[in-house]
Amino acid sequence: MQLNAPLDMHLHLRDGEMLHNIAHASATTFSGGLIMPNLVPPIQTKEAVIAYKNRILDAIGNEDFTPYMTLFFLPTYDKAFLSSMKAYITAIKLYPAGITTNSEGGVSGFDVETLRPTLEAMSQLDIPLCIHGETNGFVMDREAEFATIYERLATAFPKLKIIMEHITTKTSVALLDAYDNLYATITLHHLLITLDDVAGGMLQPHLFCKPIAKRPEDREALLKVALEAHPKVMFGSDSAPHPKDAKEACGCAAGVFTAPIALQVLTALFEKHHALNNLQAFVSTNAQNIYGITPIPKIVTLEKKNFTVPQTYNGVVPMYAGETLSYSIQGVSS
Ligand code: DOR
Ligand code: ZN
Repeated sequence: MQLNAPLDMHLHLRDGEMLHNIAHASATTFSGGLIMPNLVPPIQTKEAVIAYKNRILDAIGNEDFTPYMTLFFLPTYDKAFLSSMKAYITAIKLYPAGITTNSEGGVSGFDVETLRPTLEAMSQLDIPLCIHGETNGFVMDREAEFATIYERLATAFPKLKIIMEHITTKTSVALLDAYDNLYATITLHHLLITLDDVAGGMLQPHLFCKPIAKRPEDREALLKVALEAHPKVMFGSDSAPHPKDAKEACGCAAGVFTAPIALQVLTALFEKHHALNNLQAFVSTNAQNIYGITPIPKIVTLEKKNFTVPQTYNGVVPMYAGETLSYSIQGVSS
C-alpha cells in the first residue's frame, strides 16, 4: 500500500523540548500538517507565526515536511492585518474561551455582528476559519449544541470556508451536506473509540480528549464519511502530546498522541472496511482540494507486517502503547 504526500490537517506540535521530542513522529511520515496555535502565549502576531515556524523547521531537521501555520483567532483582527498575514498562514483557528488546552483567550459569545468585521475580511481574503466547535454545556452535548452556531456562521458568511475541527457527532456529519461552506477534519481516535473505551471500564487517560469520544452511532456516522472519503472531510489527527505524568494524573490533560501510529492504523481500518481505494483521498487529496495546497511529494509505503507500538516516544505515551498493529511503515521516499 502506498500513500502519496499524507497530510495531517490538525496537529499539535507544541514548543520547546516537547516540540523537539515529538516533531519527527509527524515529519518522517507526513508531507505536511496544519499546526495548531494554542501555545502559551497563543500565536497571534506575524512575528510569532514566523518564529514558531522556524522553531518547527529547526526541530524537524532534514525531513521534508511543511508546517502549514495558523493564527489564534481574535475578533479584533482587521483586514489590513489579515491581508499582511495571508502569505504566512493557511488558516485561522477559533477556540471558544476556555474550552480546551490553552484556549483561555478564545471567543466568548458568538455574536455574528461582533465577529462580522474579521470574518468578512477573512472571507474576502479567502482565509479558511477552523473552529473547535463546542459550547460549555454538558460534556456529551457540547458539539451537538454548537451546530446552531456553525449554521449561523455558515449562513452569515456564505463565502467563508469553515472547517469543523475534529468532529465527533452524527449532528456535525449532517451539516456537511446541508451547507456548501462547511467542511470537517476527523481524527483517528474518533473513528475507533466511543466513550465506552474511555470510561466504560477502567479509566483510560490516554484516550481522554476534547471533544470527548461519543456514542456508537456517532462513530458510525464519522466512519461512513471517512471511508467513502466524502470530499468535504479530511484527516486531521489532533495528535496532542502531553508528558506521561500529565496524563496519568489527578486532573488528566486532554489529548491523544497518535502521530507515530496514524498511517499504520488508518491503513488497517480502511482495509478492514474494504475502503483502501479511498484512503489517499482521505489523507491527502481532499485536503489539497479544500485548502488549495500542493504538498511536498512523499511516498509512504506500508506493508502488512506486525508492528508493536512502543510504550513511550520520548516520554509521551502513544495510543495503542504496547499493542501490536497489523501494518508497518516499510519505507518513505520522495
Ligand atoms: O484533546 C485535546 N487536546 N483537544 C484539544 O482541543 C486540544 C488538545 C491539546 O492541545 O492538548
Ligand atoms: Zn486540537
